[in-house]
Amino acid sequence: MNALAATSRNFRQAARLLGLDSKLEKSLLIPFREIKVECTIPKDDGTLASFVGFRVQHDNARGPMKGGIRYHPEVDPDEVNALAQLMTWKTAVAAVPYGGAKGGIGCSPGDLSRSELERLTRVFTQKIHDLIGTHTDIPAPDMGTNSQTMAWIFDEYSKFHGHSPAVVTGKPIDLGGSLGRDAATGRGVMYATEALLAEYGKSISGSTFVIQGFGNVGSWAAQLIHEKGGKVIALGDVSGTIRNKAGIDVPALMKHRNEGGQLKDFHGAEVMDASELLVHECDVLLPCALGGVLNRENAPDVKAKFIIEAANHPTDPEADEILTKKGVVVLPDIYANAGGVIVSYFEWVQNIQGFMWEEEKVNMELHKYMNSAFQNIKAMCKSQDCNLRMGAFTLGVNRVARATDTVVDDSSYIHHH
Ligand SMILES: NC(=O)c1ccc[n+]([C@@H]2O[C@H](COP(=O)([O-])OP(=O)(O)OC[C@H]3O[C@@H](n4cnc5c(N)ncnc54)[C@H](O)[C@@H]3O)[C@@H](O)[C@H]2O)c1
Repeated sequence: MNALAATSRNFRQAARLLGLDSKLEKSLLIPFREIKVECTIPKDDGTLASFVGFRVQHDNARGPMKGGIRYHPEVDPDEVNALAQLMTWKTAVAAVPYGGAKGGIGCSPGDLSRSELERLTRVFTQKIHDLIGTHTDIPAPDMGTNSQTMAWIFDEYSKFHGHSPAVVTGKPIDLGGSLGRDAATGRGVMYATEALLAEYGKSISGSTFVIQGFGNVGSWAAQLIHEKGGKVIALGDVSGTIRNKAGIDVPALMKHRNEGGQLKDFHGAEVMDASELLVHECDVLLPCALGGVLNRENAPDVKAKFIIEAANHPTDPEADEILTKKGVVVLPDIYANAGGVIVSYFEWVQNIQGFMWEEEKVNMELHKYMNSAFQNIKAMCKSQDCNLRMGAFTLGVNRVARATDTVVDDSSYIHHH
């Protein structure tokens, strides 16, 4: 099942639980706008290269649309569509005043030079500058993009619209980025893990963790979990997969990676087969890389007791059913990885206020938002008698439905009178 079908299925199930009107349900599913643009750039060797860029704006009932931009060879319109929809529910779950969007360019960022990436980002921005904006749609980094990418978008956008730092979040600190934004998704994942484990009388310290992906989300989650006394016993990225029963020294691994080393060459662990990572023995499994990695093939072999969906859509619905039957507790993506969008919201607020917060304030507010969302999800699970994924979906969908309903009622009032 592809990402769009899976997300829509979760949405429909939530709509049914909530007893939503079928017309409202249909209108919530259809994206606000889908944009597809051709981006042609001269490569460093003078030849031309063409790429396809996407932006799907899903819903703006609760505020400007918000979502990441990813650079990945497998970016396709269906997946971007699903991720945009997920952002609508995620911003609602997190209770930040945004709608949902997502975008990307089908490219392999690792095969492009820095100047080629800059040209590609600027061309993409030229093509979509009329459709994004501080109060319409605010992009952020995602897989394959980072604060540098956001700086290029901000600069290119500002050529058309004047100085507009709040048009993107995840910017470098010197350009109006927020302290704590870089770590925010990983930190939110850590807070979410803490909240979930506490429900079961457990804590991060004393638990074992397996992490897939060592990029922005995975590496921060690993570091913060390590700081809290959690034992990261296996970890993998595209360059290799490693394990150490006694716990990987995450700060040493960070140092190794920051010096250009690959995971497989790290001395403090042994290399293992990548296919064994997700089914490795552990208390908590954190997929922090791609979507769809847990499926009907590997789900029966998962040994983790808890899965924290740090990546977007890592568990397909078939795997979800299998895991539920096995008694594995899955903390859903639309809550677990919301730390990024929450601190993006703080960054946007700071840009609009022209006032910079201290990092302690950012982290403290993030903690409050993550905890309060967890309590709200738990309350939904109780009132709807459902699992955490449906608890989060019903919470998000209900908030968007209420906002939509209010506006629809008002406009029909204006038309009729
Ligand atoms: N960055 C954010 O703020 C943010 C926020 C919410 C959700 N997410 C989601 O988290 C996930 C990771 O995002 P990121 O920003 O860390 O991206 P990133 O590009 O920084 O890192 C991705 C990591 O995944 C690894 N990876 C890629 N393919 C893999 C494979 N087949 N097997 C194992 N590892 C693989 C890469 O080597 C890298 O370590 C994505 O699903 C993204 O949508 C990110």
